[in-house]
Amino acid sequence: MAPLTVFAPAKINLHLEVLGLRSDGYHELAMLMQSLDLGDQLTMAPTADGRIHLACDRAELPTDAGNLVVRAAELLKARAGLPELGARIQLLKRIPIGAGLAGGSSDGAAALLGLNSLWGLGFSQTTLLGFAAELGSDMPFCLEGGSRLCFGRGELLEAIHPEQERAWAVLLIKQPAVSVSTPWAYGRCREMRSDFYLSCEEDFEQRRQSLRQAPLVQALRGEGPVPLLRNDLQMVVAPEVESVVQGLQLLRRAGDPLAVAMSGSGPSLFALYPHREEAEAARVQIAPDLEAAGFESWCCRFRPAGVTLEGAAFPA
Ligand code: C5P
Repeated sequence: MAPLTVFAPAKINLHLEVLGLRSDGYHELAMLMQSLDLGDQLTMAPTADGRIHLACDRAELPTDAGNLVVRAAELLKARAGLPELGARIQLLKRIPIGAGLAGGSSDGAAALLGLNSLWGLGFSQTTLLGFAAELGSDMPFCLEGGSRLCFGRGELLEAIHPEQERAWAVLLIKQPAVSVSTPWAYGRCREMRSDFYLSCEEDFEQRRQSLRQAPLVQALRGEGPVPLLRNDLQMVVAPEVESVVQGLQLLRRAGDPLAVAMSGSGPSLFALYPHREEAEAARVQIAPDLEAAGFESWCCRFRPAGVTLEGAAFPA
């Protein structure tokens, strides 16, 4: 069987609202997530030794069961009841690590999609979404992608009329040496904000309903201006991570952005623009300040899909 490649896009959170604490210890969330055309690439080939061999161009990432790619592969083998399945997987990282961009979750989702095809398992998309939810809260979104409302732990997805989605451009920045642990960020949120948490399903549903009708969703459909973006983790992470405050200040004066915010649990930050040229010009404008402050930067665009099979890596 020929090797195949899978594209694993990054995501940003256009809205991240912490509603309350669930009985399973996770937070109940109301989010709007957006895939980007910045992404990793996984190349996969079958092996006959029943093992998952993961290699990665970034030495700091684990290549054992500490990597969601390996956990996704092992879960697929177990659910298929086929322990003899093996694969060699090459992961090319382009998504910044520890950044709040779901790089690890997207790689795991790419492994589910790619190996399901490579091994000819025939699991449906619905079944793969269930496996993804077992592996990580953001992983179902990474599998489906585009612009989606995400509720529950993040795994319950709702589309927002994809035919009218906006394809805005994004200027993304991050200091390479700074990363934020997601459990730490949610832990801080609980310490600082749990007095404001909602506690009953009716209140959760009211917040979900207001997000479905929010100005942000209308703006994505081209029906109004872009409002201020909300990320509840930004207000708990920013006081602890200096680069978040500094980076947001830089982005606010980078051209004329539609909006500026932190993604997920950070520390990556983004500014939105109607077109790619505006994002590129904004990047050039603040380039000296970005360099002086040690930020890396990327220009990319909204992507209407999640992980995607790209076919054979080279002719068989
Ligand atoms: O689901 P995932 O393994 O990606 O979550 C990582 C951590 O983030 C969890 O262990 C938990 O501490 C926190 N989290 C949370 N509520 C969510 C999602 C994640 O508290 N909805």
